[in-house]
Amino acid sequence: MELQTMHAQLAERLGGRELVSATISQPRLKSNDIKRIKLKPVNIKNEYRIQFEYQHEHVLKHENLPIDEAAAKLETVFGDFRQALFQFTEEKVQIQLSKKFKVSWKIEGTTTKTAELSHNRKKQYLLEDGVAYPFLVRLGVQSEDGKVKKQKYDKFRQINRFIEFIDDALEHLPKDRTVRILDFGSGKSYLTFALYHYLRIEKGLDLRVTGLDLKKEVIEECQKIADDLQYGQLEFLVGDINDYNEESAVDMVVTLHACDTATDMALSRAVKWNASVILSVPCCQHELNSQIDAPELGLMLQHGLIKERFSALATDSIRAEILSLVGYETQLMEFIDLENTPKNILIRAYKTGKKPAAGQWDRYKAFTQLLSAEPFLENELRHLL
Ligand SMILES: C[S@@+](CC[C@H](N)C(=O)[O-])C[C@H]1O[C@@H](n2cnc3c(N)ncnc32)[C@H](O)[C@@H]1O
Repeated sequence: MELQTMHAQLAERLGGRELVSATISQPRLKSNDIKRIKLKPVNIKNEYRIQFEYQHEHVLKHENLPIDEAAAKLETVFGDFRQALFQFTEEKVQIQLSKKFKVSWKIEGTTTKTAELSHNRKKQYLLEDGVAYPFLVRLGVQSEDGKVKKQKYDKFRQINRFIEFIDDALEHLPKDRTVRILDFGSGKSYLTFALYHYLRIEKGLDLRVTGLDLKKEVIEECQKIADDLQYGQLEFLVGDINDYNEESAVDMVVTLHACDTATDMALSRAVKWNASVILSVPCCQHELNSQIDAPELGLMLQHGLIKERFSALATDSIRAEILSLVGYETQLMEFIDLENTPKNILIRAYKTGKKPAAGQWDRYKAFTQLLSAEPFLENELRHLL
């Protein structure tokens, strides 16, 4: 098939609103900034749009386009990729593009699927409202019959969002031995219980999970709940992240809202333990606020409020970059979509061992020098950088 015919076919199907989902993959060049693109139809303010989700090395970006612009966009993006899988309402099409842009168009299956416009549909959660999960009942999120309590619905959404991240991380965890997981600053541990429930009860993983927190009473209560639920491989310990040195290897480190540099300490421990997965939602990122001195940014930093927010965002960008420099594929993602605060950013890092790109360290240094910043995490991991 000729390239133009392929584009005409795609435009026709988009025009007929037949798209259910699509993934465009295999960049032609390794250096391609965008690694993968996903498409799906969405409904925005009652307008039909095609959402393009661009997977960059460290970040996901989205664009919602009307049909004709989406078809034109496809023509551009296909120049950089060699493969695509389109699920249409009636058929699934596998597309391969040769070096010289010869098109192979294979119909892989004829199924009938309906395009669900994601902004419209009821959110599909991994944990369902109406199904009683013992840990959610025990923690007071659900009533005995599985109904999520009205005042706990936000928590329920947050737990579900977190489980989506756990589900994504699953493929990065070992399957042939006990998986070791640490949750630093576990607090009341809704998410620690959720993690245990999902990986142990639903996915049957052999694991050992430890929740660590400074608060003795909270930890004792969590341990009691774990005992009541007979969660035998979940333990809670009283302790300070900064002093915790009990392990030599850990597979996954979670830190959710651990304050200020406690997050950095947890990240540095995770790196030293060679953790395959790190999930971290920072909180109270104060460190840089007291260090930043950048006359070039005076226009912004003269405002205390802006300086505080800028410091928090710079701190998390620096954390992500350091993790990338020490061999993690790192992304900053939205944790819950309730509010837009620095608390809402999740750092997700998967160990790949990949060497930093040329110039990456210089770019990092230029940024920290611009801010006159000496990040805690850089000092902690200096020997690896
Ligand atoms: C805001 S709570 C979050 C709790 C839980 N991770 C969540 O997301 O629901 C932060 C928790 O981190 C704990 N924490 C803060 N600094 C800590 C440290 N240095 N060592 C251990 N725990 C710490 C606090 O005691 C608190 O329970």
